[in-house]
Amino acid sequence: MLYAEICERRRQGNLNGVDILSLLISSKDKAGEGMTDFELRDELITLIVAGYETTATAMAWGLYWIHQQLNVREKIIAEIDSLDNVSDPMSIFRLPYLTAVCNESLRIHPITPFTFPRQVQETTQLLGNTLEPGMIVQGCIYLAHQREDLYPQAKQFRPERFLEREFSLYEFLPFGGGARRCIGETLAIFEMKLVLATILSRYQLELVDKQPEKLKRRGPTLAPGNGVKMIITGQREAQKSINMKTTAIL
Ligand code: HEM
Repeated sequence: MLYAEICERRRQGNLNGVDILSLLISSKDKAGEGMTDFELRDELITLIVAGYETTATAMAWGLYWIHQQLNVREKIIAEIDSLDNVSDPMSIFRLPYLTAVCNESLRIHPITPFTFPRQVQETTQLLGNTLEPGMIVQGCIYLAHQREDLYPQAKQFRPERFLEREFSLYEFLPFGGGARRCIGETLAIFEMKLVLATILSRYQLELVDKQPEKLKRRGPTLAPGNGVKMIITGQREAQKSINMKTTAIL
């Protein structure tokens, strides 16, 4: 399917778009060479593998927490309803409580518990430990997010903590850190906010299962064990519902 997409896009010759495939096809290396179909396919596979499961899982956790705690749901709905222009994606993106809910969801259940591994290049000290060249080090996002000194009552879902103070890049790191930090972070957060706000503005939902969702390891991600099953109990009034135009990323 990817090769067919690449072939079709090359055939169309219209590479003025801002979508990723057009940008990749039109990119050139220092010698002025573009990428082969094989290289393009590899780039797309990376984005798909790294980008879909992660973002979808983040949205599932978000919906779970919003409906697990009535006060969170009420606050977020009130914030969405207060929007003057519901079809402006940037207004939704900037909503403070929605932002706090997404952050708290990624804190309490980071989608990937670890960063990718790093290999030590030169002897260095880290928190009283000597790291020697060749050693492999991985950051544990999950444990950093559970630190009681940073996040009191860390097992509690409390979005307000993100409104009360700012966390540094070393304290809140759902997308890893440093030069190899997730390249899709902005897109993922953007998608997460727009999708959650759109669903919440249109439907009344309830969790099917009142039992807490347990973490389940799914490949490199931490997913909800029961898949966050929900039912639609009603539709919200039409004028408040967000009707977002979607833009393909490929
Ligand atoms: C909620 C969604 C996502 C989460 C939680 C997430 C998390 C992460 C984490 C923790 C890393 C490792 C960073 C490190 O080792 O420091 C990573 C790397 C990466 N992510 Fe994401 N990611 C998400 C969405 C996406 C999306 C939407 C894309 C692309 C469209 C993407 C593409 C990548 C790529 C290509 C890397 C490797 C970067 C590199 O090695 O230089 N991710 N992601």
